[in-house]
Amino acid sequence: MNAISETDFNYVRDLVKRVSAIVLEPEKAYLVETRLTPLARKTGFGSLQALLASLRVDGNPRLRHQVVEAMTTHETSFFRDGHPFETLKARILPELLARRSSSQHVAIWCAACSSGQEPFSVAMLAREHFPTLVKGRLRIIATDLSEAILARAREGLYSQIEVNRGLPATELTRYFDRQGLCWRIKPEIRRMVDFQQSNLAGAWPNLPLMDVIFMRNVLIYFGIETKKQILNNVRRALKPDGYLFLGASETTLNLSAAFEPITLGKTTCYQLSQTSSR
Ligand SMILES: C[S@@+](CC[C@H](N)C(=O)[O-])C[C@H]1O[C@@H](n2cnc3c(N)ncnc32)[C@H](O)[C@@H]1O
Repeated sequence: MNAISETDFNYVRDLVKRVSAIVLEPEKAYLVETRLTPLARKTGFGSLQALLASLRVDGNPRLRHQVVEAMTTHETSFFRDGHPFETLKARILPELLARRSSSQHVAIWCAACSSGQEPFSVAMLAREHFPTLVKGRLRIIATDLSEAILARAREGLYSQIEVNRGLPATELTRYFDRQGLCWRIKPEIRRMVDFQQSNLAGAWPNLPLMDVIFMRNVLIYFGIETKKQILNNVRRALKPDGYLFLGASETTLNLSAAFEPITLGKTTCYQLSQTSSR
């Protein structure tokens, strides 16, 4: 594999930043090569260099989109990190249901949901432990930038390796059907999640106010100004007593004064601070 030139790297970096706000540091040049070389082959270009040369000349929107998609990281798993879901089950949902005793409606948004393991984990948890909520009172919306990964999520088909990561055996047998070497999520769980395409760094999606927002392991890819802008939008998307979950290595600290961290069990999540105004 030829090393990518600085000009080619800068072209990809600028394109990815413009479309997705993802920041590619120069030390990620190897990632550009390892992820775009297979795309170059798949799309009939002899090399990564030829693909980028063609893109520069005719700016093919579909190819441009494929390049950006190839540069996004979709790492995820069922019940990732465990404790956020424990806290949702043991503390947050019981508390929200008690507070919403008249409406009993709860809205949860998984922003940057990747191939769907996170929103399906929420859906399985709700069905298992909050059967009354599941009957038309729970709305789970799951969004991602990538149409390709959303297509996978909508299909709800997972390999043995994917279900081995984080999914308890009881949930596997109860909520999945074997399909060849893979496992398909049952329609009753699939139907609980509404998947939509949305760019967190673009026009903000038109969603109802949320009780819980999972926005995990995506802010890490953005620069400081983008993180601030997204958290400012999250502030307006969350109900005054709602909860925000970020990834284990992410924080609102030094980015937004609108949130305060709260520790519930083993989890740190975020609520709007008293002084935060919409
Ligand atoms: C590492 S995955 C995180 C998945 C899941 N939230 C989790 O924690 O397991 C990051 C996801 O963010 C999505 N993403 C990247 N940039 C985005 C953007 N600007 N808007 C929305 N989603 C984005 C990627 O497509 C990818 O699916």
